[in-house]
Amino acid sequence: MDPDNIYADPRTAEVADDFTIDQNWDAYTDEEHGTWDILYKEQLSCLPGLACDEFMDGLDALDLGSGGIPDFAKISKKLKKLTGWEVVAVPCLVPDDVFFEHLANRRFPAGNFIRKRDQLEYIQEPDVFHDVFGHVPMLTNPIFADYMQAYGKGGMRSAGYDRLKALASLYWYTVEFGLINTPKGMRIYGAGIVSSRTESIFSLHARSPNRIHFDLERLMRSDYKIDDFQASYFVISSFDELFKATVDTDFGPLYERLNPCFDYTATAVLESDRVYTRGTQEYGRAGGRKKGIKPV
Ligand code: PHE
Ligand code: CO
Repeated sequence: MDPDNIYADPRTAEVADDFTIDQNWDAYTDEEHGTWDILYKEQLSCLPGLACDEFMDGLDALDLGSGGIPDFAKISKKLKKLTGWEVVAVPCLVPDDVFFEHLANRRFPAGNFIRKRDQLEYIQEPDVFHDVFGHVPMLTNPIFADYMQAYGKGGMRSAGYDRLKALASLYWYTVEFGLINTPKGMRIYGAGIVSSRTESIFSLHARSPNRIHFDLERLMRSDYKIDDFQASYFVISSFDELFKATVDTDFGPLYERLNPCFDYTATAVLESDRVYTRGTQEYGRAGGRKKGIKPV
């Protein structure tokens, strides 16, 4: 959807100051529900053994595969009991300050529209499948749920530092594209990965990307890709590690130290990195998605 013209969709007739709208569940067509079912089935056929247990458990707990696009009111009821979070509908990506305030109040803003059938593989604007299938299962995990709220509060506190890019990078490399090293092996927890079949395989198994241990400041200094598979993935050992590293650090001095621009490119590997896999970067070098390169 064109974010500059959210009113073009008749479903978004009334948008509140916090950008929330009625999900208008009754307005989904059979084709739209069918799109959810196709995507759900496809992900379920590849995620076992790739996604972490916390994600798979969350999927089960919320019953997201009971048929069609889930009703946010029903998910919220379950989620509220589990971790106190709820899902609210928004018509598009919301401004940063609005987004932070929702998270800080344990509300996850999810797009209510679903991709068209010719966008099953890839869309750049997050739709209801990405937002709900990708993000909401992890919100059933108490530590992750607290991390997301802390991120929102941190975002609100960051106003005035002019370091939003660095904070966005943290979100990107954890919430969206994070990997976790578990006793069973490396697994995915990032929403951008679990909601994409091709990136689920690429992030864990391709030769191309770097896989580097999570380091807060290193990661906040690193650029990322917004329109293709990541050139580097950052790996945590536990959600506790992620929570402690971010929540126990006062970002004030950190923002002061950071340069206005990213110091490291998305492909960089540093001497100080704990590297799991040093990628060949052959996918990106060959031109990536735009050139139709096969993920390797
Ligand atoms: N500790 C951070 C701060 O001082 C807040 C934060 C927590 C940010 C968790 C991101 C994630 O601002
Ligand atoms: Co997302």
